[in-house]
Amino acid sequence: MTDKYYITTPIYYVNDKPHIGHAYTSVATDFIARFMRLKGHDVRFQTGTDEHGLKIQKAAESKGKEPLELCDENSRIFRDLTTTLDLSNDDFIRTTEQRHIDGASFLWNRLHERNQIYLGEYTGWYSINDETFYNEKDLVKQSDGSFKTVTGGPVDWITEKSYFFKLSEWSDKLLDLYKKNPDFISPKSKRNEVIKFVESGLNDLSVSRTSFNWGIKTPTDNDHIMYVWLDALTCYANGVKYLTDSENELSVYWNNVVHIVGKDILRHHAVYWPAFLLAADLKLPNKIFAHGWWTNEGKKISKSLGNVIDPIEIINNYGLDQFRYFLLREVPFGNDGDFSVKALVNRINSDLVNDLGNLCQRSLTMIEKKLESIIPGKTSKGPNEEILEKSSEEVIIKGSNMIDEFKIHEYIRIVWEHIGRVNKYFNDNKPWELEKSDEEKFLNVLAVTTEQIRNIAFFINPIIPETSIKILKTIGIDECQFSFKKINNHNIVGNNISSVNHLFTRIQE
Ligand code: MSP
Repeated sequence: MTDKYYITTPIYYVNDKPHIGHAYTSVATDFIARFMRLKGHDVRFQTGTDEHGLKIQKAAESKGKEPLELCDENSRIFRDLTTTLDLSNDDFIRTTEQRHIDGASFLWNRLHERNQIYLGEYTGWYSINDETFYNEKDLVKQSDGSFKTVTGGPVDWITEKSYFFKLSEWSDKLLDLYKKNPDFISPKSKRNEVIKFVESGLNDLSVSRTSFNWGIKTPTDNDHIMYVWLDALTCYANGVKYLTDSENELSVYWNNVVHIVGKDILRHHAVYWPAFLLAADLKLPNKIFAHGWWTNEGKKISKSLGNVIDPIEIINNYGLDQFRYFLLREVPFGNDGDFSVKALVNRINSDLVNDLGNLCQRSLTMIEKKLESIIPGKTSKGPNEEILEKSSEEVIIKGSNMIDEFKIHEYIRIVWEHIGRVNKYFNDNKPWELEKSDEEKFLNVLAVTTEQIRNIAFFINPIIPETSIKILKTIGIDECQFSFKKINNHNIVGNNISSVNHLFTRIQE
């Protein structure tokens, strides 16, 4: 298999205000991208903004702005969010960019040429909130007889001329795809839901609209604009110009594509998107992983409840790495999670301040004070040192297997177990006593501990990259090649420890 990977995260609805869901999707994808780079792969990671649709047209009208003007302003907010979250994305694509419009138009033409699109009339339920058509059986009937989506969003009954994609023709091919590639959709429970949905029979999909015009004109009929999801899903391929220029150097990334998405948009990614690509005879993504949703202190997050969690506010109050750590550690990836300040503070105080922060603080300050800041070299290796070496190697081996299965939280757990072992090694050896009784052992304990701190800085890089770099700088590694294979190339012996600051501050509840 190629060692080039293309890891994608859903592009944000440009009309939304950044919330915890956006942060979660992006941070989790960033973790995977960074981890794959650590494993030595060449990874491309893309995010961006989804800018077409009725919601944006209406929002712009209500503000007396042109839709593009509003998109420009809002897209900037999300671009800034990628910096605030310290995402390592290589690209940020906007669906209003020409490269995207060209790709979406290409796919439309290709489907049209292959007789996969026909003109008809759509009558049924439509949710502007998620720009999605619904069968009545998938909606929730309210006590007043009206219908809402499962997430509580309103739906409208609409009738309009529309082009349809022959989705119904692709059920068998899709089921075949899921069967032959058991890892195509994960986790398993979500895969089963998708299979059930497809098995229950697919209707043709309305893929154009005429009642508003903020979108990409269908190239075969300028009275219609493309359904936003058909438009938006192509962003992944357009970021590497796979559709319009399949010979260009970036399109090799299309050989190994991993889409990370929230569970609410799995159907679009695991049913519609592969069906479009199959119908157009184009290469499919390799894996789709659906993560869970966050609630706030046990309650569903919604604008109407006024309990939307602003990631920037949390970062300002508690710190970026504290927030990243919490998101990735608190909930098994794939499950739903509950945000609470109490849980966040617990994680910060116990895992970051007590475990990681104290280990670095105590050992590195000792080198600073007792050894004039010079990191000593190892002098001997006994069973206790071997335990640490083995434990460190296992983080890489076991961790890699875990991430192949998207078990981010498990990886973090074994990294913290390793941190626990290093802490134990330091405590059990009592270097503060050895200093006088056994100088050689004293130096060895500090050398071994610092070497493990260097390894830990690599291990935590995908989780809390800012802290990882901070630790490496403190132990004299200014230029770092983040690759598991190259950890030992980063020499620390003889390096100067530069001022050891507390990595994390304890939070008083
Ligand atoms: N624009 C579409 C994606 C198009 S991809 C071709 C979209 N955008 S979104 O802004 O609404 O959502 C972005 C991501 O945030 C999605 O992965 C979605 O699942 C995730 N979340 C939104 N709210 C969430 C929570 N409350 N919790 C966790 N993630 C959730 O969908």
